[in-house]
Amino acid sequence: MSNLTVGRIATLRGRFRPPSDKSLTHRALMLGARADSPSTVRTPLDAGDCRSTAACLRALGTEIDWSGGLVRIRPQPWLPPTEVLDCGNSGTTMRLLSGLLAGCPWTTVLDGDASLRRRPMGRIAEPLRRMGCSVEGERPPIRVTGTDRLQTIRYESPVASAQVKSCVLFAGLQAPGETWVREPHRSRDHTERMLAALGVNVLRAPEDPLWVGVEGGSRWSGFELSVPGDFSSAAFFLVAAALVPEAEVAACEVVLNEHRTGLLEVFRQAGVPFDAEQTSTEVGEPVGTVTVTPGGPYRPFQVSGGLVPRMVDEVPIAAVLATQCDGWSEIRDAEELRVKESDRIEKVAQGLRQMGALVETFHDGMRVFGPTRLRGATISADGDHRIAMAFAVAGLIADGETVIQGAESIDTSYPNFEEELCRMAVV
Ligand code: S3P
Repeated sequence: MSNLTVGRIATLRGRFRPPSDKSLTHRALMLGARADSPSTVRTPLDAGDCRSTAACLRALGTEIDWSGGLVRIRPQPWLPPTEVLDCGNSGTTMRLLSGLLAGCPWTTVLDGDASLRRRPMGRIAEPLRRMGCSVEGERPPIRVTGTDRLQTIRYESPVASAQVKSCVLFAGLQAPGETWVREPHRSRDHTERMLAALGVNVLRAPEDPLWVGVEGGSRWSGFELSVPGDFSSAAFFLVAAALVPEAEVAACEVVLNEHRTGLLEVFRQAGVPFDAEQTSTEVGEPVGTVTVTPGGPYRPFQVSGGLVPRMVDEVPIAAVLATQCDGWSEIRDAEELRVKESDRIEKVAQGLRQMGALVETFHDGMRVFGPTRLRGATISADGDHRIAMAFAVAGLIADGETVIQGAESIDTSYPNFEEELCRMAVV
């Protein structure tokens, strides 16, 4: 286990290009593996989770050459793997891949690390079973026995989850006819956008945009694409810029998909000065630059309902912002946070309390009171990259030293986080 030690900084300045988008990299690798011809993925996220996806695809027979910031994918017919597929820390790998495996008539065992082994898989097992696929195991390891006679479904998911939605759509691409999935609120729509960019007909119910569908038997050719930057990674430095005196930070080439940028709505509510400008489009995604400077005093903010999936990975860092807002900020309807890489409601509350903040928790969220002068503490990341980075940012405005234990987890999504922090921080 490695530690990251952070202290108060004078300011934070600079432009940075966050690591490439994790969600888009997973999808590009998987759709490349199932395309009719070879693909090239430029600027993929070269980090633990996406490496896990590549390794699983290789174990199924796909030829993948990942070198020099480029992935070349040569699709091959998939064969039963001779080994257990190791999804590492990555829920996206396990859930999306299960959708593709639903159409493969053999048993595949998928497993992961200690954190992934705690995460629920019943949410994908349920729709896949209804489609005729067998899934054993409510938590990893799971055994997926696919079939070449998948049935179409219309599935109403109880959770707003892009992973569940994408799993069902990936299975639906292999079932005869139309498969539809509805979620209670719109989650990130990268699968839909990428499929549409590849020429696949993505169906939307005009009377209810929460329903999305695909036609079975859709095929797509190999492609070349460049993966833009990840808003969820940029978020740590954007919030840091809001909190550190006289900061000015610009995140460039970052995905500005509205289903990912809910944190900007929090900035609006709190009064954080920011500017977001689209500069291009990649794989059907708006891409641009976000600039943040500190303002304040900040107003408290409220996050609930449809805003939650739009910033589901940003709640830990938003909670750090809440400690500097004037009054009670509240995050509700976020029970999903309890089944992420860690129980993020408990981890955030525990860490912020250690740093002197006043936090109440609920089954579905938390209330954070501010403004509080934070003090350094020793925080255990518990294998969760976003907890590690959120508390590293908290450490930048705290008195004394903050030690993040288990900082190696940051490699899951932001391998050069510490380097970027050192480059932009003025001490
Ligand atoms: C992801 C979806 C989200 C997110 C995860 C990546 C994806 O999970 O938390 O980091 O790539 O589809 P849910 O859709 O299950 O909330």
